[in-house]
Amino acid sequence: MQDGRTTLSKFLIDTLDRPPCTDNTRDTAGLSALLIDVAAAIKSISAMLTKGALGGNYGSAQTLNTHGEEQKKLDVSTNDIFVQQCEWDGLLAAMVSEEMEHVYPIPPEYPRGEYLLAFDPLDGSSNIDINGVVGSIFSVLRTRDPAEDASSEAAFLRPGCEQVAAGYAVYGPSTMLVLSVGNGTHGFTLERDIGNFVLTHSNIRIPEETGEFAINASNERFWEPPVRRYVQECKDGRSGCRARDFNMRWIASMVAEVHRILMRGGVFMYPRDSKTPAMEGRLRLLYEANPMSFLVEQAGGLAITGRERILDVAPRALHGRVPVILGSKNEVERIARYHGEYDRGEDKPFSSPLFGTRSLFLPDFTA
Ligand code: F6P
Ligand code: MN
Repeated sequence: MQDGRTTLSKFLIDTLDRPPCTDNTRDTAGLSALLIDVAAAIKSISAMLTKGALGGNYGSAQTLNTHGEEQKKLDVSTNDIFVQQCEWDGLLAAMVSEEMEHVYPIPPEYPRGEYLLAFDPLDGSSNIDINGVVGSIFSVLRTRDPAEDASSEAAFLRPGCEQVAAGYAVYGPSTMLVLSVGNGTHGFTLERDIGNFVLTHSNIRIPEETGEFAINASNERFWEPPVRRYVQECKDGRSGCRARDFNMRWIASMVAEVHRILMRGGVFMYPRDSKTPAMEGRLRLLYEANPMSFLVEQAGGLAITGRERILDVAPRALHGRVPVILGSKNEVERIARYHGEYDRGEDKPFSSPLFGTRSLFLPDFTA
């Protein structure tokens, strides 16, 4: 290996393909080749994004995605890159994407494999117009039964704990690929001149303690009481019951927030809210919450809906949404406790006549 560095291919071959490192309890044949194809898609997207406004890729595609959101040209072209890089290799049975309404079965002209790929090709795409950080997120499952109809939604509707690999790319000042195949979370930095992903952050660990949280505070009035309680206590800082100051961040790109948390700790929340009662949360389970939760847990953090471990949630729909609270272990455990206390009615009711329901907390409530 040139100058002793570990490239993504070497890492994957060492980890997945080469005895005695192979884990006999899991059949991961072909997974390394699939992940190398995903990395190729990410390199193409990185090259396209780097061109910025000069690349002619900015602006609206004049179409809506399956969630009724306006698609940008880049949402469409990054989706096409994922599909084209991964459909031919004989490793996949089908794909699911934020940008495609239905399951995409591998076309008949290509051999069919046993893996299922779910992805969000361009996360945080509202940041594109401002040259802000965006990302791609992906999740890999293995089909349970090779004879199963992979174009059926049912093939994908499995809890996140069954993922065999998950990862994201963050397109920032440098492009990084962060992934896990179930043996820790590892970060690779793209060396642009050569085109290699080089292992730069092996075995990432999220600090258990943190003083940083991330939430879209403009939704505060729609949050549930346990989340309002937690955020209020953070904002109270040194003079409140937490007796220390907290810092807040919001980049509006889940990839960028999760990356920061993997690098230095913190909590990210897109909790259940009453803004759109029909939706359980903002983020999609299959290709946003599940892969990120896998990476966070593999790095020693926790990921919950507030009341349940995200990786145990049984998906009900391809594009189903879920509340997400993830990051440093001690803070996520605290937020889980606040949900439990609220649900059991163990938190103190707020006495203000302004509030008809039990919704806030006495200022002297101590944690
Ligand atoms: O994909 C959804 C997403 O763009 C996330 O990346 C990000 O965390 C969130 O939405 C931003 O939401 P909001 O627009 O409410 O800040
Ligand atoms: Mn997204």
